[in-house]
Amino acid sequence: MKTVLGYYKKYIPFVCIILLVLFGQVMCELLLPTYMSDIIDNGIVAGDMDHIKHVGLIMIGVAFAAVVFSVTGSLFASMTAAKSARNIRKALFTKVTSFSRAEIERFSAASLITRSTNDVQMIQQATVMCLRMMIFAPIMGIGAVFMALKTSVSLSWTVGLALICVCGLMVFSFVAIFPRFKKMQEKLDRVNLIMKERLSGTLVVRAFRTEAFEQERFDKANVDLTKLYIFVNKCLSFLLPTMTLIMSGVGILIIWVGAHLIDAHQLMIGDLLAYLQYAMHVIMSFMFVTMIFVMIPRAAVSAKRVGEVIDTAVSIEDPEHPMQLPDTSDLSAELRGKIEFIDVAFAYPDAEENALEDISFVAEPGKTTAIIGGTGCGKSTLINLIPRFYDAAQGQVLVDGVDVRQLRQTDLRQRIGLVPQKGTLFSGTIESNLLYGDADATEEELELAAEIAQATGFINEKPDGFDTEIAQGGSNVSGGQKQRLCIARALVRKPEILIFDDSFSALDFATDKALRRALRQKATGSTFIIVAQRINTIMDADQIIVLENGRIAGKGTHKELMEQCSIYNEIARSQLSKEELERGRA
Ligand SMILES: Nc1ncnc2c1ncn2[C@@H]1O[C@H](COP(=O)(O)OP(=O)(O)OP(=O)(O)O)[C@@H](O)[C@H]1O
Ligand SMILES: [Mg+2]
Repeated sequence: MKTVLGYYKKYIPFVCIILLVLFGQVMCELLLPTYMSDIIDNGIVAGDMDHIKHVGLIMIGVAFAAVVFSVTGSLFASMTAAKSARNIRKALFTKVTSFSRAEIERFSAASLITRSTNDVQMIQQATVMCLRMMIFAPIMGIGAVFMALKTSVSLSWTVGLALICVCGLMVFSFVAIFPRFKKMQEKLDRVNLIMKERLSGTLVVRAFRTEAFEQERFDKANVDLTKLYIFVNKCLSFLLPTMTLIMSGVGILIIWVGAHLIDAHQLMIGDLLAYLQYAMHVIMSFMFVTMIFVMIPRAAVSAKRVGEVIDTAVSIEDPEHPMQLPDTSDLSAELRGKIEFIDVAFAYPDAEENALEDISFVAEPGKTTAIIGGTGCGKSTLINLIPRFYDAAQGQVLVDGVDVRQLRQTDLRQRIGLVPQKGTLFSGTIESNLLYGDADATEEELELAAEIAQATGFINEKPDGFDTEIAQGGSNVSGGQKQRLCIARALVRKPEILIFDDSFSALDFATDKALRRALRQKATGSTFIIVAQRINTIMDADQIIVLENGRIAGKGTHKELMEQCSIYNEIARSQLSKEELERGRA
């Protein structure tokens, strides 16, 4: 809450302007009934046409001024709300961009989106309401009470009575409706959740024929929400007519009591009408104040959710005095792109066991280091430590001989071309996606990268070639095509370190082989780290690391491992034909 309020500091001058113009508006509106009373008593009753014209003109002027003040107030209120909402959204976006994966997982991507859209909108709406009403209603209320008392003291008890009725009504709505607002939000969350799961899991739901179950789940959540909506709206629909009833009742009461006072020559007819208007102003201001009290707790919930994100400490930050990586050309060939793991251990937040333990190896420049192991053994985890998506809990990860924690994240990642296991493409064209690797890449460089990644064939088959549209998430290209585009994107960067996390899994054997040959021939000098499930893909690697349960179970070449590492031997036997095994031994 405090965090979000901080974003309004800049707009204090705006708030001052709003305060001033709203004060002006209240003054004008409070003056109008007095003028009206004057016209009736001293103009109409006395039959003085000039007085009517004179005061009438003043009234038009005052009414016009009230409109100008009101519009100016609204304008500044909207501006303050919109601008601060923009700044909050920007802060959220910047913060989320700096989040490491651990923080994103903590909040979940869906929740981060809701927080930066829906919640910020709630705050914005409440801001406009508060700036307009929170200032306007109390001034109006107090002013109207004062003017009403000035007009007629003997009628004042009627307003008192009206306020008691209004208070009673408000207490009822607080008790009956207010707690249900929060519940409504929660039920809405549930409907959204089921809807989101249903949409992202469409294929699974169809494949497993669980439509009926999903429909039931959705219906239940939907009915729950509907029931609550109906109840709340019943209460609300009861509120407004009751309010009108109170206002009309008080009106009749004032006229009835006033008529007797006029009869006894204790009150002028104009004063009675003015009093009536002031009484209505008092009741209305009271209602506005109540509305604000309903709005603020709802916005406070949103402000808290937004504040939580902005205040989260990022677990992976740049060091205060980052080490400067020497220019690649200044580095000796043995160091350029060298990766070294020294006794590394790592555990995911909240996990009981280490996902990695005692990991030590060196990946030499110009050579290929392959990582193989069963699913869930920690291959992706290991790779994620190199670009510092996570930090090692123990030990060190060195790139170019420097601990990755001593480097600026951008400097480090600039040297790495990563093809993640779950490749993502962005909406745009093939070309715009490849340019993510290096925005300054020339057309020839893009073509070369596509050629190495074996993507040229299918790109050229498309009528628009490199300008072919890519749908969000790359849903309009096949799995294998997507993998090849992701590989090409990493190659465009011409990094000194190339990491492939199971990036050849969707490729057929021939393409896999051609791609690896092209990599060896055309991307020389880089350090390759290849994670794979297929022995075929990594057989020729200079070094193979066999992982099991987060530990290194074997390290060496294919030949060495076949002899020394039983796990590797088993994997190889299950995948390779006799001839291939023989060839590997030779
Ligand atoms: N974000 C995460 N939070 C908590 N635990 C995780 C997370 N990601 C992975 N794990 C756990 O860490 C272990 C290693 O996972 P990892 O993704 O590194 O496996 P992998 O070897 O890449 O498997 P695969 O071959 O299926 O890709 C698994 O037991 C997994 O459940
Ligand atoms: Mg993996």
